[in-house]
Amino acid sequence: MTLLALESCDVFYDKAQALHKVSLGVEANEVVSLIGRNGAGKSTILKTLIGLNRAASGRRLWKGDDVTALRADQLGRLGIAYVPEDRRIFPNLSVEENLRIATLMGRQGGWNLARVYDLFPVLRERSAQPGDTLSGGEQQMLAISRGLLTNPEVLLLDEPTEGLAPLIVDQLVEAMRLINAEGMALLLVEQNLRVPMKLAHRQYVIDHGAIRWSGTTADLQVNRAEIEKLISV
Ligand SMILES: Nc1ncnc2c1ncn2[C@@H]1O[C@H](COP(=O)(O)OP(=O)(O)O)[C@@H](O)[C@H]1O
Ligand SMILES: [Mg+2]
Repeated sequence: MTLLALESCDVFYDKAQALHKVSLGVEANEVVSLIGRNGAGKSTILKTLIGLNRAASGRRLWKGDDVTALRADQLGRLGIAYVPEDRRIFPNLSVEENLRIATLMGRQGGWNLARVYDLFPVLRERSAQPGDTLSGGEQQMLAISRGLLTNPEVLLLDEPTEGLAPLIVDQLVEAMRLINAEGMALLLVEQNLRVPMKLAHRQYVIDHGAIRWSGTTADLQVNRAEIEKLISV
């Protein structure tokens, strides 16, 4: 079943068109990657999915229902969570306070404070520290945990591994694998193929605001040279 989809969406910032007839979807329990270079339109797609951007034409669908008119908070209650690129940690609140706020906003479900601490033990160690004392990788773990605590059916992740050391990236990949294995669908935005090739079942390649290629990870392997050209800077 397709959980969340865009159908032929055009999105503008003032007069500049950022998305051209974008159609994509995430199936239940699937990991999908959205890959493209800087400025391609990846974040715009996530913001359109979560209701922070309005499409001038086209539709947003949730389990086949037209939810084009719903606001971000209403989409959140349906079971869509979004981890933005800038992570939006509350710098003066402790790690645990950051997490508790997410539990208040969220839906009921299997993810709770103890389980996110088991997933990211370093957050338990740092639970009393202010958010802004965390490293970049720890902040990303906190941001992902806040998404999990709202118990969504699909989690949208905007460049979760960008700028992080390889060892931390490996930890995040393992965590995402586990989150997906527990039944959550992931839509993962990345600028290169490294993490998507490890994790995703299906891939979309975006350039200049349009989907240029989509297929399974096995298909991508076959067409890799062509796709590297679309995403190289
Ligand atoms: N708030 C905004 N106002 C005007 N233009 C924007 C805004 N956000 C993004 N853009 C433009 O839209 C295009 C796509 O941006 P974005 O979706 O952020 O790309 P990506 O996430 O792939 O780097 C870029 O040309 C960018 O400059
Ligand atoms: Mg972006």
